[in-house]
Amino acid sequence: MSTEPVNVDEFEELARQALPRMYYDYIAGGAEDQHTLRQNIQAFCRITIQPRILVDVSKIDMSTTILGYRISAPIMVAPTGSHKLAYHEGELATARAAAAAKTIMVLSLASSYSMEEVASSCNAIRFFQLYVFKRRDVSTLLVQRAERFGYKAIVLTADTPRLGRREADIKNKMIAPPQKNLEGLLSVKVEVESDQGSLLESFVNEAFDPSLCWKDVAWLKSITSLPILIKGILTHEDAIKAVEVGVDGIIVSNHGARQLDFSPATVSALEEIVHAVKGKVPVLLDGGVRRGTDIFKALALGAQAVLVGRPIIYGLAAKGERGVRTVLEMLKNELEISMTLSGCPCIKDITRSHVRTNTHYDK
Ligand code: FNR
Repeated sequence: MSTEPVNVDEFEELARQALPRMYYDYIAGGAEDQHTLRQNIQAFCRITIQPRILVDVSKIDMSTTILGYRISAPIMVAPTGSHKLAYHEGELATARAAAAAKTIMVLSLASSYSMEEVASSCNAIRFFQLYVFKRRDVSTLLVQRAERFGYKAIVLTADTPRLGRREADIKNKMIAPPQKNLEGLLSVKVEVESDQGSLLESFVNEAFDPSLCWKDVAWLKSITSLPILIKGILTHEDAIKAVEVGVDGIIVSNHGARQLDFSPATVSALEEIVHAVKGKVPVLLDGGVRRGTDIFKALALGAQAVLVGRPIIYGLAAKGERGVRTVLEMLKNELEISMTLSGCPCIKDITRSHVRTNTHYDK
């Protein structure tokens, strides 16, 4: 009899067993030598938690507010594409689980269900993640649809002028899964007959706009009244630019190490970005978050919340909606334990002095 998974890594193992090889490799993999993929995890291991004792921790409050939306804990669902690869109900199941956990789901533009279908299937607080296409009119329509269907913010992913080199996908000739949001809007000719590696990569390289740059944030602001978060910031230079162009939030992310190998582990980049932003906009982080202690460390270094990508898909692949609920509950429970044992009854009690890193940021 199989036992229930007790942590995110065990969910990954169940997902690996449940998924066809091509899909597991696509979800789990990173770019090139996967150095950053390993570092996203290992960088958390280099941080210690400095607990305080004899604090009244009889009540723990993990709730927090992101862009004015109250969530039960600082753990959000990162945008990841094609959830139907993992489970037939795809993002509908993920969104219901996010609603049950009282958190925010960032729906990927590359979702298997359309943003309208996801909106009508649950009452989760939803943000919409955007890629900008060469066909700007298509991106405009998508943003307007998101606004009309109750998405509360646009997350502009800015680290993907083309797809990173994911060698497992090249070997497996990874399919380009159907993208429901683009139906009737964008047809891109992918060289299926050429038999040359990842079809997903061909699609992205054909459709995405590599000329997107800082001035285009003004364009995005001109077509929506929704707040805009930029996802993919890894340096203080870009954090300062993001504040200057007037974004409403920053997501420190290396796209789950799927884009530029040897980009920094996100938790290593976090503190310099937090310092640069000087509290002007919220800073969120994703990449390698697998434990409540990881969340605690990111908060101590100045993140307002974290997003989780692969753990959600592993939950979905292993046990559908229930799996995603369990993954979110596990992370919440682990964070609660971390807060209790380190003497932090509320999120705001978690401070820089509760962690030590071996890579100190020198001002
Ligand atoms: C992603 N990510 C991603 N990001 C994005 O902005 N749009 C997208 O469509 C996708 N799709 C996607 C698919 C898969 C399978 C993965 C694993 C990741 C990146 C995602 O939002 C996030 O940055 C990382 O997943 C965070 O790292 P962890 O939590 O997976 O380690």
